Amino acid sequence: MKKRPSPTTVAKQQPQSSKELKQLRAQLAAKEKQITHLETCLEQSRNATFRFKKQRPGRRGKGDYVRFFLPDTHGCFVDQAALSACLHDLEALQPRQVFMMGDHLDCGGFLAQHHTLGFVAQADYTFEDDIVAANTLLDEVQKRCPKAEIVYLEGNHEERIEKFCVTSALRNKVDAELLRRSIGTESVLNLEKRGIRYIRKALTYDGCRVQGTVRAGKCFVTHGTSHGKNAANAMLSRFGACVVFGHVHKLMSATDRNVKDGEFAAWSVGHLSKQQPLWRHGHPTDWSQGYGFQVVTKQEDFLHINVPIIDGRSYLAPHGDALT
Ligand SMILES: [Fe+2]
Repeated sequence: MKKRPSPTTVAKQQPQSSKELKQLRAQLAAKEKQITHLETCLEQSRNATFRFKKQRPGRRGKGDYVRFFLPDTHGCFVDQAALSACLHDLEALQPRQVFMMGDHLDCGGFLAQHHTLGFVAQADYTFEDDIVAANTLLDEVQKRCPKAEIVYLEGNHEERIEKFCVTSALRNKVDAELLRRSIGTESVLNLEKRGIRYIRKALTYDGCRVQGTVRAGKCFVTHGTSHGKNAANAMLSRFGACVVFGHVHKLMSATDRNVKDGEFAAWSVGHLSKQQPLWRHGHPTDWSQGYGFQVVTKQEDFLHINVPIIDGRSYLAPHGDALT
């Protein structure tokens, strides 16, 4: 316990005369002056001597353009409201390039690897309906953006057609190819006639080392292979470059940086099909509807934006004027 000073000690510390009191007041005034000086010094040292570099606000240059990524619609399992919102933005943005990210034909029924049994509604599916839905989508895209260059990437669902052809032809190459030409995606969606470039999962393009992938300026575009919550990170580490993909039905991104190339990123551009397909058997999905687009400069530098569509409403729409 702290010892209390005795009344005698306290009395000794009291000024004994008016002279002493005067001296103490003078010392106090000197200390106050010193404190004021130190406070001023401290304030001055914290004043802004650091200057931020001023930069002119960026403006859309003459050669700038928009690149659009329209993700998985799954044919007749398309979500009408989500697609409608996406097409509205597509028309407003008037992209120079449109990438159909794949899985625009669901290829269910006899083409599916896993049948969803036990649902009457699923039994309604026909490949014919699927083809009509995908053709209607392409008609709409071409009507709304008549000048756009369109690239159609084969998804894992379109890939089922080729697998079906190979199996049905008992692995005979010539017959499998004959079948593929008759019922393949290029044929049923009239891609050649439409002037749409088709990227097959079995072939390589634009000097890319990976099949089913194309270059888009400083970026790669592919349907995608990775699944799950870490798909963007997985794609990023596998590609080691900027890459846009569909397939996982989620809006997500991941970034990284390396010594050679600096910053790069992977973007998953969501989906536009039904949020709860029957094959999920009532398990809630963690999918997100939306799409992606890039504002690209003449030098091919780009800003990538993933746009969410929630309950049939695009979240670009209220801000779209700033970009068009
Ligand atoms: Fe898909």
